[in-house]
Amino acid sequence: MCGIVGVVGTRNATDVLIQGLQKLEYRGYDSAGIFVTDETRTETLIKAVGRIAKLQEKIGIEVNGSTGIGHTRWATHGVASEDNAHPHVSETGRYVLVHNGVIENFKELKEEYLVADTFVGQTDTEIAVHLIGEMAKTSATTQEAFAKALKLIQGSFAFAMVDREEPGTLYVAKNKSPLLIGLGEGYNLVGSDAMAMIRETKNFVEIHDNEMVIVKKESVEIFDASGAKIEREHYVAELDLSDIGKGTYPYYMLKEIDEQPSVIRRIIQKYVVDGEYQVEQGIIDAVTEADRIYIVAAGTSYHAGYASKEFFEKMTETPVELCLSSEFGYNIPLLSKKPLFIYISQSGETADSRQVLVKTSALGHKSLTITNGPGSTLSREADFTLLLNAGPEIAVASTKAYTAQIAVMAVLAKAVGAANGYEAAKEFDLEHELALVATSMVATLDDKEKIANIVEGLLTGTRNAFYIGRGADYFVAMEGSLKLKEISYIQCEGFAAGELKHGTIALIEEGTPVQAIISGANTASHTRGNIMEVESRGAKVITIVAADCAVPTDDIIVPTVHKYLTSLAMVIPTQLIAYYATLQRGLDIDKPRNLAKSVTVE
Ligand code: F6R
Repeated sequence: MCGIVGVVGTRNATDVLIQGLQKLEYRGYDSAGIFVTDETRTETLIKAVGRIAKLQEKIGIEVNGSTGIGHTRWATHGVASEDNAHPHVSETGRYVLVHNGVIENFKELKEEYLVADTFVGQTDTEIAVHLIGEMAKTSATTQEAFAKALKLIQGSFAFAMVDREEPGTLYVAKNKSPLLIGLGEGYNLVGSDAMAMIRETKNFVEIHDNEMVIVKKESVEIFDASGAKIEREHYVAELDLSDIGKGTYPYYMLKEIDEQPSVIRRIIQKYVVDGEYQVEQGIIDAVTEADRIYIVAAGTSYHAGYASKEFFEKMTETPVELCLSSEFGYNIPLLSKKPLFIYISQSGETADSRQVLVKTSALGHKSLTITNGPGSTLSREADFTLLLNAGPEIAVASTKAYTAQIAVMAVLAKAVGAANGYEAAKEFDLEHELALVATSMVATLDDKEKIANIVEGLLTGTRNAFYIGRGADYFVAMEGSLKLKEISYIQCEGFAAGELKHGTIALIEEGTPVQAIISGANTASHTRGNIMEVESRGAKVITIVAADCAVPTDDIIVPTVHKYLTSLAMVIPTQLIAYYATLQRGLDIDKPRNLAKSVTVE
């Protein structure tokens, strides 16, 4: 994954890079590095294993400069070490490069062009910068050498490079990996996302795949793959610096969990004005005309797709099929005659989903992206976009984006159903029901101390756990389980409650924690039966039950919401369980090991 940032001009480059890298840490945090220089070519290259704070400890106050590039890494090729940390330097020493992405043909490039070179690490990036150095031997300019290398490199990349002989210029290029230009007065920037640059500017220019950009303090020149110059308007980001602070919260995750009621209300305000649904006609037509909807997503977003399937099918009278984006290429479903592909992605940058979008677009199928990332790759490349309006989600574990995804899917289903006069949509007062969801969420959040107490002791020392549920609760069980395992490292399975007895119940032993979810009377008696089965084998059960089917001995009681929207209410205790279990285990809640927020490798 990795995050990159660069600056050139009248700013203290070190300061801009460190601030930017801190905002990008969500993209990877196993090692980091910066290179800074200035007109006098006073240069510093510093790397450190671990978080940005480790890098900061190594940087003296005398290190500033006017041009710089920085990188925070999520290892793909080679372990987390200083040798593998970016920036990397060409064999000649002239070029210094940071990279996000994966170069697929790095071995071939090495064998064909770089047999005589010596490498310090194992990264594909080092091969890229050596290749640029190699191309420079037969090129009149660095721009020409960079362009030649770009033509040879296959895979995904966002590059920012400094030619040490030309310290006032950044050479930038991208393919598949995200990269934006930030415009300042007397300085310009480059970064993996807008948040990395928002302290310096609100004005951004998109870079498209296979473009090269030359960034100087007073100019930004964009070239297409043929070398022709392109003019592109900038846009102003709506992001606010205060959106990306933690405020008084100890962790972003808790802040983001708490923000969910207001996100739901914001979605109502944005999408329902005077009872009218603010969904563009093209999207309504695309869903209406489709004979089948394929939802393509990964991880939590995939779970949000499942949570939306039932109401989407009912309100739009169209079948919905779920596809894991990383599996799509290997398990291609038999496509219907008029499919519509909906890509659900918090970041809008997930490489697994993007590669499916590229394929389905090539086949001529229409696409809609549902994302929290305005201007993100999936948003730009799909025919349509619906934004989550959830505000930046910084914690690696997704919470408010999940609930916002389901809410926006509900808005879309209702808008389509209402436009077509479908019965299920007519009967469903979405505005009112989402307001009830927000109220239910507030009640659960107000009682979070109780959840902290329930979790204490039960999950602090355990190695494994289960979530069980039936129907919609099964999908929440999948999400609750992912949340718990990704931040607390407890091995947890989200299971269809009725399926447990077909094998997996063998894993239940004395003290195994099982969280059981019951949101409706239709599943209550059967799931309660499954609870008895696991309890009689020693499991310690926590029940999470909707108020209208709860009994006094239940542990967590959630105010009841409409049956279409139960996931939105029932997921809140599971998020809090993951949060408190991790807190009690003393782990880094916002930045769990081995993960990154934006998964830009396949
Ligand atoms: C888990 C989580 C991941 C993401 C997945 C897809 O908390 O955040 O499972 O849901 O990596 O990412 P997006 O939604 O950005 O496509």
